[in-house]
Amino acid sequence: MSKNFYITTPIYYPSGKPHMGHAYSSIIADIFARFKRIEGFNVYFLTGTDEHGQKIQKEAEKNKKKPKIFCDEISETFRSLTKILNLTNNDFIRTTEPRHFKSVNEIWKRLIKSGDIYLDKYSGWYSVSDEAYYDEDEIENKNGKKVSKASGSLVEWVEEESYFFKLSAWQDKLLEHYEKNKDFILPNARKNEVKSFVEKGLKDLSISRTSFSWGIPVPDNEKHIIYVWLDALTNYLSALNFPDINSDKYKSFWPADVHIIGKDILRFHAIYWPAFLLAANLPLPKRVFGHGWILSDEKKMSKSLGNILDPIEIIKNYGIDQLRYYLIKEVSLGNDGSISMENLKNCINNDLANNYGNLCQRVFSFIKKNCNNKIPNGNSLNENDLKLIRNVKNSIPSLIDLINKQNLNEYIKKVVNFSFEANKYFNDSEPWVFKKKDPDRMNAILFTIVEQIKNISILLNPIIPISTKKVLNSINISDKDILIDNIQKDNSLNLEKELKDLDILFKKVEDDN
Ligand code: MSP
Repeated sequence: MSKNFYITTPIYYPSGKPHMGHAYSSIIADIFARFKRIEGFNVYFLTGTDEHGQKIQKEAEKNKKKPKIFCDEISETFRSLTKILNLTNNDFIRTTEPRHFKSVNEIWKRLIKSGDIYLDKYSGWYSVSDEAYYDEDEIENKNGKKVSKASGSLVEWVEEESYFFKLSAWQDKLLEHYEKNKDFILPNARKNEVKSFVEKGLKDLSISRTSFSWGIPVPDNEKHIIYVWLDALTNYLSALNFPDINSDKYKSFWPADVHIIGKDILRFHAIYWPAFLLAANLPLPKRVFGHGWILSDEKKMSKSLGNILDPIEIIKNYGIDQLRYYLIKEVSLGNDGSISMENLKNCINNDLANNYGNLCQRVFSFIKKNCNNKIPNGNSLNENDLKLIRNVKNSIPSLIDLINKQNLNEYIKKVVNFSFEANKYFNDSEPWVFKKKDPDRMNAILFTIVEQIKNISILLNPIIPISTKKVLNSINISDKDILIDNIQKDNSLNLEKELKDLDILFKKVEDDN
């Protein structure tokens, strides 16, 4: 089995500052990247910015800046967001980089060579905001204006000479691919949407524009700019040294294991992208996972609606682990989910402060007080203790399976449940009662509960990396030993060294916060 794993986020339009929707796509991808790493995979995790096209050109003009300067500035805010979100991306690609130009040029040439590109004239509806073409039946009249039914954004009539990609020729091959690779598009509801769209019949796709200049020129016909989606999707290859398909990076990581995207850009990733790749004679990604939207006031966040939630502000007030945990625990990954500060507070208090955080703190201070600050031996565990420990250990294959299906909600539910059970075990076992009358029993309880804390912390590590590292470091487990294997291994606790002090992990949030 190959031990490499390639995961990507969408590359973001640097047209305005990052918001919670962007943070959401990135955090999800980071959690999978971190999990696969502690599972022992060699992970390549890519994110970046999508800098070409009419939307960016217009935005730059509005700000009276040259597009490149405008992009440099905003792309930097996305790059610094990766730090604030504590992402472990290996690379940050910008579509204005030379490595990307090279790769897009090669894709174009391959499509020409395969006979999939022809020159014609486009006339139809285009949304600059979505950078998408729409058919007549995909638009509607709203307040006297023509808008896309799906996104609500304004469309305009476009007529210009354009290169076309023979998308229609790939319809059957795409349907065959969806059929043969049942998990190519997840969740299933999204796959059905895509399938029925393709079944209705695909039209050839306009893949160049002539009415603006900000983008990658078509090789040999520079008055045409390559359609921003053909340009953008290719980033996933550019980061792996494409067109050098003999490079280690390309050979190790292509095809991608999963593209994490929002449901609004599913069509581009699950129809256009595989069709481009088929035509270019390149392997297809193994999966496209389309998550739902984070809603603010029950609506998708957008600049025009003025309902943007700023992740940086929330992180300042509550902490990054807290936000990561909340988004994964409370928003169902495949569906839309509203978030509110009230729920965030409850989640921090109930799950993090009262449950996991409190358990670690209570257990460690008990050990400090009663066991010379060292984890006691587990020589005399009873059936009940062993059962608790085994319960977690035996669940590892099914937890890995959940992650491999991007079923993060079920995963976190199970792990949090382990934490509730551990708390209950500690309370019910009453180690304090045995201090004098049966120290062996007290030791067994403490050993069991620390073993559980260790295992739960490793499982929570991809979601709340900062806090779990603190807990694991305080029981002398170093960062490099934060591995799924160390859950299954017996005797991975260090009984020789004293525990390190653990600061308060999660401050409770008061109502006036
Ligand atoms: N540039 C394209 C992607 C190209 S990928 C080859 C793009 N950029 S975007 O900045 O508009 O959006 C990037 C991602 O953020 C998308 O996955 C989108 O779904 C996600 N989100 C934007 N708003 C969102 C919410 N309100 N909620 C969750 N995610 C949403 O599209």
